[in-house]
Amino acid sequence: LYTTYDILSPMIGIFDSGVGGLTVLTKIRERAPDADIIYFGDTKNAPYGTRPLEELRAFTSSAVELLLSKGARDIVSACNSVSAFTTLSESGLLAQVPLSIIEMTRPTVRALARDFTGEKIVFLATPATIASSIYARGCAESGINATHIAIPELAGAIERGAPRDEIISIVARAVSVLPRDTDVVSLSCTHYPFVQDIFIEEIARAGLAAETFDPADSVAEEVCVGCEKNGNGTARFILSKDSAVFRDTLSRIFVGSPMIEIRDVSV
Ligand code: DGL
Repeated sequence: LYTTYDILSPMIGIFDSGVGGLTVLTKIRERAPDADIIYFGDTKNAPYGTRPLEELRAFTSSAVELLLSKGARDIVSACNSVSAFTTLSESGLLAQVPLSIIEMTRPTVRALARDFTGEKIVFLATPATIASSIYARGCAESGINATHIAIPELAGAIERGAPRDEIISIVARAVSVLPRDTDVVSLSCTHYPFVQDIFIEEIARAGLAAETFDPADSVAEEVCVGCEKNGNGTARFILSKDSAVFRDTLSRIFVGSPMIEIRDVSV
């Protein structure tokens, strides 16, 4: 297995349920334009955030195996709803990741503790992320004053390209349950930064003074420290099911249309 990887140029493998991870990929490319990237979006199984843990673990193993087989040396889990590290440790796959595994949690918590010391942080995320308590644990360890609120429908709505009005009403409902003294709203699902402008508008409309925080850049910062970033700046994309929303989003991020391979990796 190892020998197979060695003949390929080292790449950073990024995965998510669909378009969400593109918010992270964009920040990685800004900080490391020469990194070679392979991205997998599990569009066939998206959204992840309302699925049971066992299913999410199986999807995570398949995604990582696919990325490794395509030459990824580092793995970035651009999905808060799964823990790549836990899944890989339990399946024994961990030993096969040649370099590092980067998840959203640690860089997010580190950046919040550094930049918003003593402030009241609210984590907005999928039900799977909130149920896993990963942010609750990270915040307790870092002394962050945090509240956690799940938004069950938002990632799926963004993934299927729902009309703006529908997104606005989902966001408005979430904002209506924010504590009045919230200082910072962490967009802890990688899909949410696509509608950060709507969060900002609805927070202002509700008369709150909270600011929004997109963790993608702090994740990109960690990728620059821990991953192979000297390549040819190539980016390849694999989806488990073709998606017009994904293609459209990608064409707004990249000049020209990168090739997308469709590969069903069903478990
Ligand atoms: N973007 C992912 C996350 O950060 C998954 C969202 C979903 O598919 O529900 O949680």
